[in-house]
Amino acid sequence: MKRLDPAKLTLRPFEILDVEWALLVAGSERPNPMTVSWGGLGTLWNRPVATVYVRPTRHTFSLLAEEPSFTLNFLPEPLRGALDLCGSRSGRDLDKWKATGLGREASATVPVPRVAGADLSLECRVLATVDLDPARFLDPEIHGLYPARDYHRAFLGEVLAVWASERFAGR
Ligand SMILES: Cc1cc2nc3c(=O)[nH]c(=O)nc-3n(C[C@H](O)[C@H](O)[C@H](O)COP(=O)(O)O)c2cc1C
Repeated sequence: MKRLDPAKLTLRPFEILDVEWALLVAGSERPNPMTVSWGGLGTLWNRPVATVYVRPTRHTFSLLAEEPSFTLNFLPEPLRGALDLCGSRSGRDLDKWKATGLGREASATVPVPRVAGADLSLECRVLATVDLDPARFLDPEIHGLYPARDYHRAFLGEVLAVWASERFAGR
């Protein structure tokens, strides 16, 4: 893993989250990893930004309210077994680090750790949050994704540091 200029990152934007999934780590005192597959990487306010969408029912949601930064971590094949547990169990009642055997390492720019052994990690500082407003959904099918009406909050994170393996630094 080496620190990479975000502009040099090489990846498939519509595959990396939807197919590979990622671990969103939030919280500084008791950090917690949660599996995510919805989000995006892009540009806003002239900065590189990673956006994640978190439902208010998640433990991660309250952690992000306490400490407005996160890391987004993509795992190599041997560690990917952890994604099922981190996407089905809550950090409210389980230490997911212990349960999965995943390790963590200190980030360079935010008080939230990265996942040790990840092959891509983004360190992000939340610049703004946006609550999705169902009144603005134009495709009626979207309502079906919210039977409990727990509409996502978007967390727009400025990417302060990128750590990448060769797989993501191929240019
Ligand atoms: C593949 C996958 C993707 C997920 N993506 C999201 C997501 O983008 N946003 C979200 O709020 N929950 C998502 N979830 C659900 C959370 O990971 C799950 O509810 C988790 O147990 C919440 O953990 P926490 O309570 O420790 O925060 C996803 C789950 C899976 C299995």
